[in-house]
Amino acid sequence: MTESRAFPRFPAGFVFGAATASYQIEGAAREDGRGPSIWDTYSHAPGLVANGDTGDIACDHYHRYPEDVALLRELGVDSYRFSIAWPRIVPDGSGPVNPKGLDFYARLVDELLAAGIEPAATLYHWDLPQALEDRGGWRVRETAERFAEYTAVVAGHLADRVPRWITLNEPWCSAFLGYSVGRHAPGAREGRGALAAAHHLLVGHGRAVEALRAAGVREAGITLNLDRNLPATGSAADRAAVVRADTQHNLVWTEPLLAGRYPHTEEETWGELITGQDFRRDGDLALIGQPLDFLGINYYRPIVVADAPHREPDPALRTATDNRYAEVRLAGARHTAMDWPVVPDSFTDLLVALKERYGDALPPIHITENGSAEHDEVSPDGAVHDRDRVAYLRDHLTALKAALDAGVDVRGYYVWSLLDNFEWAFGYGKRFGIVRVDYDTQRRTPKDSYHWYRAMIAAQRD
Ligand code: FCB
Repeated sequence: MTESRAFPRFPAGFVFGAATASYQIEGAAREDGRGPSIWDTYSHAPGLVANGDTGDIACDHYHRYPEDVALLRELGVDSYRFSIAWPRIVPDGSGPVNPKGLDFYARLVDELLAAGIEPAATLYHWDLPQALEDRGGWRVRETAERFAEYTAVVAGHLADRVPRWITLNEPWCSAFLGYSVGRHAPGAREGRGALAAAHHLLVGHGRAVEALRAAGVREAGITLNLDRNLPATGSAADRAAVVRADTQHNLVWTEPLLAGRYPHTEEETWGELITGQDFRRDGDLALIGQPLDFLGINYYRPIVVADAPHREPDPALRTATDNRYAEVRLAGARHTAMDWPVVPDSFTDLLVALKERYGDALPPIHITENGSAEHDEVSPDGAVHDRDRVAYLRDHLTALKAALDAGVDVRGYYVWSLLDNFEWAFGYGKRFGIVRVDYDTQRRTPKDSYHWYRAMIAAQRD
């Protein structure tokens, strides 16, 4: 087979997986005692999500999980990354625990283990209980404490069967898309509120790590969407814009998590929004910077950054992300259905640069998401020949292997996503799955990329 010669080879024991998230696939939004989350509220508000889509039904995974685990088993993955819906476990955000919510994840985990697949659980993939948002959400420190309590409950039930735990998924999205640009739930447009949210998410991470350790889990980590920010031109202004973009996308997380400090570039990035910092407390850096067993990284694309004046003329309306840079379309690259440029080399560069910056302080890495949305078409024979997605996956796995060869300690790779699903503010219009979902019938159809990934995994074991 000529194609198998093109498969990159990974070291023995390298983990291959697939990833999903609760609100994007589960549906059953009002079943078995689940409380409302900020994404229920956001998606039901008119005009915020494309096409008026909501996660009410999604892929109906809540009822169809045995079929989805069978797809994973057939795929041959070592591990499956899913997320736990906090409002299924603690419907009001604090107070009584809902045993039916715990039961659902226990059944899912048992089904995975019976299929020979290691579960990897994310505790927070953005579905905050609405009751906590009503009390301030991530702007307030109390939410970090509630997160630790919820983590203790879940880990107390599942630590013996789930080896790998991820506290937060992409806190940049929670803090900045959620509380600054308003494109994610809860849809706030604030400056300081977003910076407080970023900090409280990190505090919540630290408190959750403590709870995971107390429960005796094997591996605890966090997932970040780190960006490879490239200057649009060599001008001093564009290079300064890259510093601000790097601070807000990367350093705000990696400096406290890996170096025990706040970014030294925060004043030039956020100006008066960060002065005072009354949400920070003594001891926070030690809590946030506890050693991790792994760092999860989600990578999709590079970002080309140009200097830009404030978009909001009224400083009172100025949001934290409006720190004077703009994203520029990269000429010459193929763009996916998200209009994201495809640049596999920048995946290698991101990982190598991270290793150069943090050295031995960098824990082993798992790529917890990578994949692409494409304009899939169903052929008359029912198949989905998603050649662009196959090329994307092949080229990014090859780029990942180059990072391993350059000395970066990467232990695993999870494709995003097992299924087409609810792509947040884009609704169901953007398809990232290696399995197609027909939302009228809930029929699952493995695409060519599923067959390619299966063959790639099998080839590792030859
Ligand atoms: C990431 C999210 C994931 C999915 C992909 C495309 O930012 O973690 O839920 O939406 O992007």
